[in-house]
Amino acid sequence: MAILVCGGAGYIGSHTVRQLIEAGEEVIIADNLSTGHRAAINPAVKFYECDIRDKAALKKIFAENQIEAVFHFAAYIEAGESVRLPLKFFNNNVYGMQILLEAMTECGVDKIIFSSSAAVYGEPERVPIDELDKTEPTNPYGESKLIMEKMIRWVNAAQGVRYVSLRYFNASGASEDGSIGEDHHPETHLIPLILQVPLGKRDHITIFGTDYPTPDGTCIRDYIHVVDLADAHICALNYLRGGGKSDAFNLGTGHGFSVKEIIDAAEKVIGRKIKKEFGIRRAGDPARLIASGEKARKVLKWTPHFDDVEKIIATAWNWHNLHPNGYEEA
Ligand code: UFG
Repeated sequence: MAILVCGGAGYIGSHTVRQLIEAGEEVIIADNLSTGHRAAINPAVKFYECDIRDKAALKKIFAENQIEAVFHFAAYIEAGESVRLPLKFFNNNVYGMQILLEAMTECGVDKIIFSSSAAVYGEPERVPIDELDKTEPTNPYGESKLIMEKMIRWVNAAQGVRYVSLRYFNASGASEDGSIGEDHHPETHLIPLILQVPLGKRDHITIFGTDYPTPDGTCIRDYIHVVDLADAHICALNYLRGGGKSDAFNLGTGHGFSVKEIIDAAEKVIGRKIKKEFGIRRAGDPARLIASGEKARKVLKWTPHFDDVEKIIATAWNWHNLHPNGYEEA
């Protein structure tokens, strides 16, 4: 039986497809290519260009293939945009999840691994954050992910669809061979933006806020390597296969790095200074987001391998160096 990866042409989806194939799984990708890249699609897999809001298209995939489980990465991700365009996010993310779950239940597919986010917590009351902490999103993106989690929970109770929701902290890095990596348009994430400076694509990096209640005044995040995230999905699949109970898990390293520390680490990796400027805070940024990743380690038997932020940045640098225009040139 195969794994259907919705959003398999995107950043985390494409890395997970690769790990699934390496684990010997049969994989099928569904992606509408609105933000994903055709060049990121693994040539070894069957690809359906389709939107998760298109129930007929999903049911066709379920009819033509024996699908054991769905990995659901297909969602909009940019928190700032979600504040401006909340309905765009509720439509694709929430309504998309509804249609996907309808198609799954109508076709008897009973396992889903869902890409949730640390954004479900909003401004945390304490760090490290654990899974039982308050969930109070501060933007429509986080709200959409929380509603999607809740939707799956109710469908689990009513129709028995089993799930693992994985709450990613800051996904970063790229495959070690540099063949797939991060390519968002527009790019809003810290590490790729920092690396655009030495690539000559940007004059400087702006640090959003230097007056946060943190040791150096800049925001602290938990940067988790994309291949470690991908591995967690395989662990989650095997956990469900082994009869594990449906649940939500944080995916992070448990270590926080400030924006300034990330810039310093990037300078060490590339061996050059990176021009920076100090700007005002970006609306909606919590001061500190650090995961307690204990539950995923214990229950899912997940072991992240990238424990050093310089190593993480080095894989990103390798990818951006080899592909300064992302997938465009491919
Ligand atoms: N930052 C800058 N300058 C920039 C870009 C970012 O200082 O040019 C700062 C941000 O203010 C933040 C940190 O770098 O403090 C990280 O920002 P990112 O945009 O890379 O990541 P976020 O923490 O905002 O968000 C990421 C994902 C979200 C997810 C969230 C959960 O993009 O989808 O992690 O932790 F919800």
